[in-house]
Amino acid sequence: MDLTTAGADIDRVIVTAPEIQARLKEIALQVEADYAGKNLLVIGILKGAVMTMADFVRSLNCHVEMDWMAVTSYGSGTKSSGVVRILKDLDRDISGRDVLIIEDIVDTGLTLAWLKSNLQSRGTKSVEILTMLRKPDAAKVEVDVKYVGFDIPNEFVVGYGLDYDEKYRNLDFIGILAKEVYS
Ligand code: PRP
Repeated sequence: MDLTTAGADIDRVIVTAPEIQARLKEIALQVEADYAGKNLLVIGILKGAVMTMADFVRSLNCHVEMDWMAVTSYGSGTKSSGVVRILKDLDRDISGRDVLIIEDIVDTGLTLAWLKSNLQSRGTKSVEILTMLRKPDAAKVEVDVKYVGFDIPNEFVVGYGLDYDEKYRNLDFIGILAKEVYS
Protein backbone atom coordinates (compact mmCIF):
# COMPACT_ATOMS: atom_id res chain seq x y z
CA MET A 1 0.00 0.00 0.00
CA ASP A 2 1.37 3.42 -0.88
CA LEU A 3 0.37 7.07 -1.07
CA THR A 4 -1.92 6.47 -4.03
CA THR A 5 -4.10 4.43 -1.65
CA ALA A 6 -3.47 6.04 1.77
CA GLY A 7 -2.56 9.53 0.53
CA ALA A 8 -5.60 11.47 1.73
CA ASP A 9 -5.14 10.15 5.28
CA ILE A 10 -1.45 11.05 5.50
CA ASP A 11 -0.49 14.69 6.11
CA ARG A 12 3.21 14.26 5.55
CA VAL A 13 5.69 11.43 5.02
CA ILE A 14 8.39 11.75 7.68
CA VAL A 15 10.52 8.67 6.98
CA THR A 16 10.61 7.10 3.53
CA ALA A 17 11.02 3.38 2.81
CA PRO A 18 14.62 3.76 1.55
CA GLU A 19 15.54 5.86 4.62
CA ILE A 20 14.21 3.12 6.91
CA GLN A 21 16.23 0.41 5.14
CA ALA A 22 19.44 2.47 5.07
CA ARG A 23 19.18 3.27 8.79
CA LEU A 24 18.50 -0.37 9.68
CA LYS A 25 21.66 -1.40 7.82
CA GLU A 26 23.70 1.14 9.83
CA ILE A 27 22.22 -0.11 13.09
CA ALA A 28 22.82 -3.73 12.08
CA LEU A 29 26.54 -3.02 11.60
CA GLN A 30 26.66 -1.48 15.07
CA VAL A 31 24.81 -4.43 16.62
CA GLU A 32 27.12 -6.94 14.88
CA ALA A 33 30.12 -5.18 16.42
CA ASP A 34 28.56 -4.78 19.87
CA TYR A 35 27.49 -8.43 20.09
CA ALA A 36 30.48 -10.06 18.39
CA GLY A 37 31.10 -13.47 19.97
CA LYS A 38 27.79 -13.36 21.87
CA ASN A 39 24.66 -15.41 21.36
CA LEU A 40 22.12 -12.65 20.70
CA LEU A 41 18.40 -13.16 21.33
CA VAL A 42 16.13 -10.56 19.73
CA ILE A 43 12.63 -10.16 21.12
CA GLY A 44 10.08 -8.46 18.88
CA ILE A 45 7.12 -6.78 20.53
CA LEU A 46 3.93 -7.54 18.63
CA LYS A 47 2.32 -6.21 16.71
CA GLY A 48 4.02 -2.95 15.84
CA ALA A 49 7.57 -4.29 15.68
CA VAL A 50 6.91 -6.93 13.02
CA MET A 51 8.28 -4.84 10.15
CA THR A 52 11.30 -3.54 12.09
CA MET A 53 12.13 -7.05 13.32
CA ALA A 54 11.79 -8.64 9.86
CA ASP A 55 13.95 -6.06 8.11
CA PHE A 56 16.47 -5.70 10.94
CA VAL A 57 17.30 -9.41 11.24
CA ARG A 58 17.67 -9.64 7.47
CA SER A 59 20.18 -6.78 7.63
CA LEU A 60 22.24 -8.64 10.24
CA ASN A 61 25.19 -10.64 9.02
CA CYS A 62 25.42 -12.94 12.04
CA HIS A 63 23.42 -15.69 13.76
CA VAL A 64 20.52 -14.49 15.83
CA GLU A 65 17.66 -16.17 17.68
CA MET A 66 14.19 -14.65 17.65
CA ASP A 67 11.26 -14.69 20.03
CA TRP A 68 8.13 -12.57 20.39
CA MET A 69 6.04 -10.98 23.10
CA ALA A 70 2.73 -9.22 22.75
CA VAL A 71 1.91 -6.44 25.18
CA THR A 72 -0.63 -3.69 25.06
CA SER A 73 -0.55 -0.16 26.36
CA TYR A 74 -3.01 1.59 24.05
CA GLY A 75 -6.71 1.16 23.42
CA SER A 76 -7.97 2.14 20.01
CA GLY A 77 -7.33 5.82 20.71
CA THR A 78 -4.18 7.86 20.26
CA LYS A 79 -2.99 8.32 23.87
CA SER A 80 -0.84 6.05 26.04
CA SER A 81 -2.70 4.61 29.00
CA GLY A 82 0.43 3.57 30.90
CA VAL A 83 -1.21 0.23 31.64
CA VAL A 84 0.90 -2.63 30.31
CA ARG A 85 -0.57 -6.09 29.95
CA ILE A 86 1.16 -9.21 28.57
CA LEU A 87 -1.01 -10.78 25.87
CA LYS A 88 1.62 -13.33 24.78
CA ASP A 89 4.72 -14.21 26.77
CA LEU A 90 8.06 -15.59 25.54
CA ASP A 91 8.32 -19.23 24.51
CA ARG A 92 11.55 -19.80 26.42
CA ASP A 93 13.64 -19.21 29.51
CA ILE A 94 15.91 -16.22 28.90
CA SER A 95 18.13 -16.41 31.99
CA GLY A 96 21.77 -15.75 31.18
CA ARG A 97 20.92 -14.39 27.71
CA ASP A 98 21.96 -11.19 25.95
CA VAL A 99 18.59 -9.78 24.91
CA LEU A 100 17.76 -7.04 22.44
CA ILE A 101 14.16 -5.80 22.52
CA ILE A 102 12.88 -4.68 19.10
CA GLU A 103 10.17 -2.01 19.04
CA ASP A 104 8.54 0.22 16.47
CA ILE A 105 8.19 3.25 18.74
CA VAL A 106 9.10 4.64 22.15
CA ASP A 107 6.44 7.22 22.87
CA THR A 108 5.89 7.95 26.59
CA GLY A 109 8.47 5.26 27.39
CA LEU A 110 6.07 3.55 29.81
CA THR A 111 5.88 0.28 27.87
CA LEU A 112 9.63 -0.06 27.36
CA ALA A 113 10.52 0.92 30.94
CA TRP A 114 8.17 -1.78 32.17
CA LEU A 115 9.33 -4.37 29.61
CA LYS A 116 13.01 -3.81 30.24
CA SER A 117 12.67 -4.31 33.97
CA ASN A 118 10.36 -7.29 33.43
CA LEU A 119 12.98 -9.03 31.24
CA GLN A 120 15.83 -8.06 33.58
CA SER A 121 13.95 -9.69 36.44
CA ARG A 122 14.15 -13.01 34.53
CA GLY A 123 17.92 -13.26 35.13
CA THR A 124 19.10 -12.02 31.74
CA LYS A 125 22.77 -11.18 31.24
CA SER A 126 21.92 -7.94 29.42
CA VAL A 127 18.82 -6.21 28.07
CA GLU A 128 19.04 -3.44 25.48
CA ILE A 129 16.46 -1.76 23.27
CA LEU A 130 16.31 -1.07 19.55
CA THR A 131 13.47 1.12 18.33
CA MET A 132 12.69 2.41 14.87
CA LEU A 133 11.17 5.63 16.23
CA ARG A 134 11.41 7.69 19.40
CA LYS A 135 9.44 10.77 20.41
CA PRO A 136 11.69 12.68 22.80
CA ASP A 137 9.00 15.30 23.51
CA ALA A 138 6.46 12.68 24.61
CA ALA A 139 8.67 10.98 27.23
CA LYS A 140 7.09 10.50 30.66
CA VAL A 141 9.82 8.23 32.01
CA GLU A 142 13.54 7.89 31.25
CA VAL A 143 14.36 4.77 29.24
CA ASP A 144 17.86 3.99 28.08
CA VAL A 145 17.47 3.12 24.39
CA LYS A 146 20.71 1.90 22.81
CA TYR A 147 19.69 1.91 19.13
CA VAL A 148 17.29 4.51 17.70
CA GLY A 149 16.26 4.65 14.06
CA PHE A 150 14.85 8.18 14.07
CA ASP A 151 13.83 10.78 16.65
CA ILE A 152 10.56 12.29 15.49
CA PRO A 153 8.21 15.10 16.57
CA ASN A 154 5.34 14.42 18.95
CA GLU A 155 2.75 13.76 16.23
CA PHE A 156 0.50 10.78 15.63
CA VAL A 157 2.38 8.63 13.14
CA VAL A 158 1.36 5.50 11.27
CA GLY A 159 2.95 3.04 8.88
CA TYR A 160 5.73 0.46 8.99
CA GLY A 161 3.96 -1.45 11.77
CA LEU A 162 2.33 1.52 13.47
CA ASP A 163 -1.45 1.59 13.35
CA TYR A 164 -4.48 3.70 13.98
CA ASP A 165 -7.33 1.38 14.88
CA GLU A 166 -5.38 -1.52 13.30
CA LYS A 167 -5.02 0.23 9.94
CA TYR A 168 -1.95 1.61 8.11
CA ARG A 169 0.50 -0.97 9.54
CA ASN A 170 1.28 -2.18 6.02
CA LEU A 171 2.57 1.14 4.70
CA ASP A 172 6.27 0.77 3.90
CA PHE A 173 6.96 4.36 5.03
CA ILE A 174 6.10 6.37 8.17
CA GLY A 175 3.77 9.33 7.94
CA ILE A 176 1.81 11.76 10.10
CA LEU A 177 -1.86 10.80 10.20
CA ALA A 178 -4.25 13.58 9.20
CA LYS A 179 -6.17 14.87 12.24
CA GLU A 180 -9.52 14.47 10.46
CA VAL A 181 -8.98 10.70 10.51
CA TYR A 182 -9.00 10.43 14.32
CA SER A 183 -10.80 13.51 15.60
C1 PRP B 1 2.96 0.75 20.84
C2 PRP B 1 4.43 0.47 20.57
C3 PRP B 1 5.01 0.32 21.94
C4 PRP B 1 4.17 1.27 22.77
C5 PRP B 1 4.93 2.55 22.97
O1 PRP B 1 2.32 -0.47 21.00
O2 PRP B 1 4.60 -0.70 19.81
O3 PRP B 1 4.88 -0.98 22.43
O4 PRP B 1 2.96 1.52 22.04
O5 PRP B 1 4.19 3.48 23.69
P1 PRP B 1 4.70 4.11 25.05
O6 PRP B 1 6.14 4.47 24.91
O7 PRP B 1 3.82 5.33 25.22
O8 PRP B 1 4.47 3.12 26.15
P2 PRP B 1 0.74 -0.65 21.04
O9 PRP B 1 0.32 -0.79 22.48
O10 PRP B 1 0.09 0.41 20.23
O11 PRP B 1 0.48 -2.07 20.41
P3 PRP B 1 0.76 -2.60 18.92
O12 PRP B 1 2.27 -2.69 18.77
O13 PRP B 1 0.12 -3.94 18.90
O14 PRP B 1 0.15 -1.63 17.95
